[in-house]
Amino acid sequence: MSNYHIKHLEEYYKVYRKSVREPEVFWEEIAEEHFVWRKRWDKVLSWDFSKPEVKWYEGAQLNITENCIDRHLRTNGNKTAILFEPNNPEEAAQHITYNRLYERVNQLANVLKSQGIQKGDRVCVYLPMIPELAISVLACARIGAIHSVVFAGFSATALSTRINDSDCKLVITSDGSYRGKKTIDLKSIVDEALEDSPGVTNVLVVKRINSDIVLKEGRDLWLQPLLDEASIECEPEIMEAEDPLFILYTSGSTGKPKGMVHTTAGYMVYTAYTFKNVFNYRANDVYWCTADIGWITGHSYIVYGPLANGATTVMFEGVPSYPDYGRFWEIIEKHKITQFYTAPTAIRALAKEKLEFVDKHDLSSLKVLGSVGEPINEEAWHWYNDNVGKKKSPIVDTWWQTETGGIMVTPLPYVTPTIPTYATLPFPGIQPALMDENGEEITGNQVDGRLCIKFPWPSIARTIWGNHQRYKETYFSAYENKYFTGDGALRDAVGYYRITGRVDDVIIVSGHNLGTAPIEDAINEHPAVAESAIVGFPHDIKGNALYGYVILKETGESRDQTNVRKEINQIITEHIGPIAKLDKIQFVPGLPKTRSGKIMRRILRKIAGNETSNLGDTSTLLNPEVVEEIIKNAII
Ligand code: WTA
Repeated sequence: MSNYHIKHLEEYYKVYRKSVREPEVFWEEIAEEHFVWRKRWDKVLSWDFSKPEVKWYEGAQLNITENCIDRHLRTNGNKTAILFEPNNPEEAAQHITYNRLYERVNQLANVLKSQGIQKGDRVCVYLPMIPELAISVLACARIGAIHSVVFAGFSATALSTRINDSDCKLVITSDGSYRGKKTIDLKSIVDEALEDSPGVTNVLVVKRINSDIVLKEGRDLWLQPLLDEASIECEPEIMEAEDPLFILYTSGSTGKPKGMVHTTAGYMVYTAYTFKNVFNYRANDVYWCTADIGWITGHSYIVYGPLANGATTVMFEGVPSYPDYGRFWEIIEKHKITQFYTAPTAIRALAKEKLEFVDKHDLSSLKVLGSVGEPINEEAWHWYNDNVGKKKSPIVDTWWQTETGGIMVTPLPYVTPTIPTYATLPFPGIQPALMDENGEEITGNQVDGRLCIKFPWPSIARTIWGNHQRYKETYFSAYENKYFTGDGALRDAVGYYRITGRVDDVIIVSGHNLGTAPIEDAINEHPAVAESAIVGFPHDIKGNALYGYVILKETGESRDQTNVRKEINQIITEHIGPIAKLDKIQFVPGLPKTRSGKIMRRILRKIAGNETSNLGDTSTLLNPEVVEEIIKNAII
């Protein structure tokens, strides 16, 4: 990419105005200047939010891996593309150059082909944060297969649901994974999942922990021997601009997870362009995003965005607390990290530890700090700014979503003056709108409402896999002709945005989106449970934690409540994963319901948050007496 960056605030406003006035011209110029295309587009944009349908760069042909790998070889072949830092600090870091990445991606692409994978097939990737994860993603893209990465912390049931939803034919996994002191037996989770996923015909297994695992005859193969035999050349599949690149699941407030579909050209353009500007990326930088590639942040800002810019991107296998709470800061010093992008939950956890862990490391290489995944509270912001950035590195508080593909509202470092808790200004091309309860746009400043986006941007998800109707209902039905984010926001006197949190039944716990319905469904499978309701409550480190209200069946027998609590969390772990475990479980005689039978979650949220002095209007309740009862026994 050329060296062009937005340099000061006035220029930002100028660029922004152009992006709104002439969006097609704006995005056409960026696409022309920064990428390699096999065929130019016929039309920059066509869209209709009422269907909804969005197409960018129609008619263009390309392969995203040519943009992320091949074109860097001539000038930067020996530059490190992926810098892998293992879980164990004693194990050597790996520097995978662009030349080597090219070979490894092509080899895996050839192996996938030899297993019968073709353009459009879905491949599930269930791997820890090891280089093979990024390489798998890129190998799929090389041959036009659609990757569906499932975070390796998800349970067998969650994995199986995702595999089946998108009919994956093949799974790439490993014998196991390292996570701090623990080793996790990933392969047996896959084995369990595949009992319910008969559509999977092949499993490729990366050797990571050298454990004794059983390979299922006719289905499972060790990956390395196949790679050793494979050619290092693989012609990229020529993709249409709107061909799907990947599916990534995100929780919904109801029902099963939503497989968000991202397509090729627009996603590439947007992630690359935002990466460059939001992180003020320069040629010799060493950029580190601590997310897992199992989430959108890892897709867009560990793999595609950085590699499209020819950057060095760090992949860290471990956790911030191992071998001690100084690990992040040690890695920053060791690899002279220039941009560091993490989540508020990690910052809050580390801020609780002794400052010594930070102070003993030389963090002077840092130029930009980033935050993503949930609102960053003021205290965490200051701790990050003072102790990590030493008040010299601007913090970019980036707001975006799995569905948006790339960063939407963010400061630009050294350009936008920051204020703690404000994601500040829309990125060029992004047109936010705040909506009121009557569906009207709220104009002017110093207002708050529900955050919508009123014009398409290149990396908007195009659909939900296999369920376009749900896509339409979830995102395009609340407000006419607008994409609804599910978040609330306020706009201050100068037009800065502050994200105030979800306005639906998605709860963000440690930066992970969790829908209440799937957790309730899991709990209700416990034989003693009649009904349940989950709400979030403020938590020092996780941002939000989960509070469950559970009605037990009346069987006349007495139950050991401690056991039932344990079993409930066990069921949640099996169905979803440990991230969805409840911090508090209260057994209640009933749940506050409206006359139409809907649970009044607003009241339950207030009780869980210990705000019972102002419960609001309870007159529409069918059973107001139950509220008193719940308050009396609330776990505060
Ligand atoms: C929340 C993560 C406040 C928000 C990239 C959004 C944030 C959801 C921020 C998407 C931020 C993300 N400030 N809230 N900087 N970033 N969120 O799909 O509620 O995992 O809707 O994508 O996280 O989470 P997702």
